[in-house]
Amino acid sequence: MSNPVIQVNDVCRSYHIGGHRIEVLRNASLSVDPGQSVAVGGLSGAGKSTLLHILGGLSRPDSGAVCYRGNDIYAMKAGVRTRWRATRVGFVFQSYHLLPEMDVLENVMLAARTRVRYRGRGEARDRALCLLREVGLSDRAHHTPLELSGGEQQRVALARALVNEPELVLADEPTGNLDRETGAHVMQCLMNLTRQQGHTLVMVTHDPQIAALCDRRLYICAGAVRDNPPSESKCES
Ligand SMILES: Nc1ncnc2c1ncn2[C@@H]1O[C@H](COP(=O)(O)OP(=O)(O)OP(=O)(O)O)[C@@H](O)[C@H]1O
Ligand SMILES: [Mg+2]
Repeated sequence: MSNPVIQVNDVCRSYHIGGHRIEVLRNASLSVDPGQSVAVGGLSGAGKSTLLHILGGLSRPDSGAVCYRGNDIYAMKAGVRTRWRATRVGFVFQSYHLLPEMDVLENVMLAARTRVRYRGRGEARDRALCLLREVGLSDRAHHTPLELSGGEQQRVALARALVNEPELVLADEPTGNLDRETGAHVMQCLMNLTRQQGHTLVMVTHDPQIAALCDRRLYICAGAVRDNPPSESKCES
């Protein structure tokens, strides 16, 4: 049996807003094996983005443990966790988060760890160009994001997330802003690239057709991670 890439044990996370405490995750647990693709579903507000941020080392849980290859990421010093995130994790956001003043290649290169992952900028640039070719955008390398369509911008964001060959790819509704056909193309790129490289993928999606492309489907319901799609009434907290 292989060791899980991600092991989450009894994670709780709440937010305090205007004197109220909202419990979002309650003893959420999950384990993801190397190379597996997992779709996470659940109602709006169920805590899907919260879980993804916790997995990516961006938001500390109130309690519980989040281990990457057996190491608790929230027990790491902040600088170590930041380096871990920059080299091991690729994040894809629903709203792309590209820098409008830079061209496509510069956006991808900005994320490249030129000294850690590559022998220099030249090698990182070759990898960035190769990824842009893989997502079908090699002829747009010197365009700015605003000159691209939503689907093209999301494919640039995919290239940027993958430039350091992260072992773990986290994607938060990567096709949420796209029409079905464009979303299907972006998904095809994401699935091909992650499978080709053996990356582990955890993706939030509301779309059952997209979830069906993944090896496993999980759902957040009443703060916990479940294997079965919940009925709405059972999920009210
Ligand atoms: N930074 C924050 N401060 C306060 N409350 C927050 C914060 N982030 C999330 N929440 C609350 O936590 C709950 C879960 O939010 P989250 O974004 O994880 O849901 P989600 O499942 O991703 O929803 P959606 O499908 O709409 O994206 C929501 O009620 C939200 O208002
Ligand atoms: Mg969300």
